[in-house]
Amino acid sequence: MSDDEIVVHDPHDKPATYVEADGLDRFENPGLPPHRPRRADLDEGAAKRAERQVTTMFGLSMLGALGFIVAYLFVDPNLRGEILLIGEMNLYHLILGLTMAVSLLGIGFGAVHWAKTLMPDTEVVEERHLQASDQAARDDAAGVLSDGYRGAQLHRRPMLLLTAGGALSLFALPMALQVAGGLDPNIWRDPSPAEMLSRTVWKKGMRLVIDPSGTPIRASDLTQGSVIHVMPEGYAGAHTEDGPSDQEIMTAKATSSVLLVKMNPEDIKSAKQRDWGVDGIVAYSKICTHVGCPVALYERQTHHLLCPCHQSTFDMTNDCEVIFGPAKRPLPQLRITVEDGYLVAADGFAEPVGPSFWERG
Ligand code: FES
Repeated sequence: MSDDEIVVHDPHDKPATYVEADGLDRFENPGLPPHRPRRADLDEGAAKRAERQVTTMFGLSMLGALGFIVAYLFVDPNLRGEILLIGEMNLYHLILGLTMAVSLLGIGFGAVHWAKTLMPDTEVVEERHLQASDQAARDDAAGVLSDGYRGAQLHRRPMLLLTAGGALSLFALPMALQVAGGLDPNIWRDPSPAEMLSRTVWKKGMRLVIDPSGTPIRASDLTQGSVIHVMPEGYAGAHTEDGPSDQEIMTAKATSSVLLVKMNPEDIKSAKQRDWGVDGIVAYSKICTHVGCPVALYERQTHHLLCPCHQSTFDMTNDCEVIFGPAKRPLPQLRITVEDGYLVAADGFAEPVGPSFWERG
C-alpha cells in the first residue's frame, strides 16, 4: 500500500470476535493476559532482598519524621546559611522541608516497592452486578480477600508490618505538631503568645533612632512640636549582614515602634510623664491599646494622638489617657534620657505594650 492511499473502514465490518446473542451486539470477553510471575515470586532470595529494600525505605521515613520533630523543637528558627547556587536562606525551613520530604517519600516509595515486588499481583476479576451479589458470590469475595492476605505473606514477614506501622504512625506526629502549633516552634518554647507579643526589644541604654533612616537623635536638635517615628537602634530600616534578621526586625516593628514628641514642658500635666521625658521630649508606644493599629496622627494644637483604625484618642498632656474611642488604657510611656547628647532608653517599657487582650494569655 502506497503512502497516499486512503483506507476507508466500513462501519459494518465486524471484528473477528464479534458475536450476536439475544439480538444485541456484543464483543467477546478478550480475557486476561497470562499471569507472569515476578522474580520475587520464584526466588526466595529476591523476595528477601525486596523485603530489605522496603523496610529500609520505611526506616528512612521514620528517621525523617524523627528528624523533623527534633529540628522543629530544637533548631533555631532564625538559623541562616549559604546554600550552593541558591545563596543565603533560612536553614530551619530547609531542614524541616528535607526531613518532611524523607518521611513522605520513604512511605511512598516503600509502599510502591512493596506492592510491585511482594504483594500478590495476580489479576482478579469481579463481575459487575446491578444488585447485591448472592451469598455464594460474597463468600467468593471474602475468599479472595483472605487469599490476598495470605498471599501478602504478612505472617511470614513481620518486619514489613512493623516498619510500615512505625512509618505511618511517626509520620502522623509532624502533622499533629503543625496542626497544633503551625511551623513556628516558639508556640511550644514560649507557651504564652501574649508574652511574645507584648515583649519589646527596648533595653536600658539603647539609642532612639529615626525610622527608617536609623539616624540617632540629638535631644538638642528637636524643636517644639517635632514628631518623630522611632525604633531602637539596629531595628530601623532593612536587615543588615551583622544586624537582627528580617523576622526580628518585623517583630520589633510590631511591638517596639515609638512616637517621639517634643512638647512645652509646661503643657505636661503628669509629673511622672515629665520625669520620664527629657525637657518636654516624651516617647510613647505607637501600638494602639485597642487592637494594635499604629497610632500616628498627632494634633499639635490639642496635643491629641489619634488612632486611625477606630478613632481612639489619647491626650498627650496627661500621660496619653484615653479621652475618646474604644481603647481601654493609656499608651505606655518609654522612659528616656540623654547619653553623649543622644536620646537613649532609660529602661525597657515598664508595662506591656499593645492591646489589653495581649496581657490575658
Ligand atoms: S486599633 Fe486603635 S482604636 Fe482600634
